[in-house]
Amino acid sequence: MATLRLGDKAPNFTAQTTEGEINFYDYLGDRWGVLFSHPADYTPVCTTELGAVAKYKDEFAKRNTKVLALSVDGIESHKGWVNDINETQNTTVNFPIIADEDRKVSSLYDMIHPNADETLTVRSVYVIGPDKSIKLIITYPASTGRNFEELLRVIDSLQLTAYQKVATPANWKHGEEVVISPAVSNEEAEKLFTKGFKEIRPYLRLTPQPNLD
Ligand code: BEZ
Repeated sequence: MATLRLGDKAPNFTAQTTEGEINFYDYLGDRWGVLFSHPADYTPVCTTELGAVAKYKDEFAKRNTKVLALSVDGIESHKGWVNDINETQNTTVNFPIIADEDRKVSSLYDMIHPNADETLTVRSVYVIGPDKSIKLIITYPASTGRNFEELLRVIDSLQLTAYQKVATPANWKHGEEVVISPAVSNEEAEKLFTKGFKEIRPYLRLTPQPNLD
């Protein structure tokens, strides 16, 4: 198994999930995708994470993004756990969870880091673009629950910078000023960024987020 890196094609797979058999590419269609792994069912941090993602359903939908979770336990275990998540997190899990008992998908996506744990997956996050290439990889240890507000923020940046010649500065949030890509000349910037831009240094130019009214 080769290491997956940014820009690589996301491997396709077919897997059993809580919502039946899924072909990953068919599931995503032409949307953005988030594939994220969990160490195990019936564990406290994972329970809060899946509840949190369920509550962000509208936020992922707004971003044209489908989510798919993975845990290495079986379907029956997942189904029982989903009931617990719904009850304890006051939500309804609204996305499929892969039952990766044979570690097929975990291996394909390098989600088992043997020096952290021999058999369980770490908390991996892959964001996949509509072209099926990998746009973002983040890895957290089992003991640290993810910040899904941060994931939504990064998706905003990925989607903005995929279509505009800008990049997003430190701690940027949707609606804030962005930086103009260094490859864009001032002459081109004047044409592209009709709201104007500030040149703080020749390499540091700020402009209002271009895709907003
Ligand atoms: C958890 O999800 O709570 C968890 C899973 C594995 C190790 C530590 C915590």
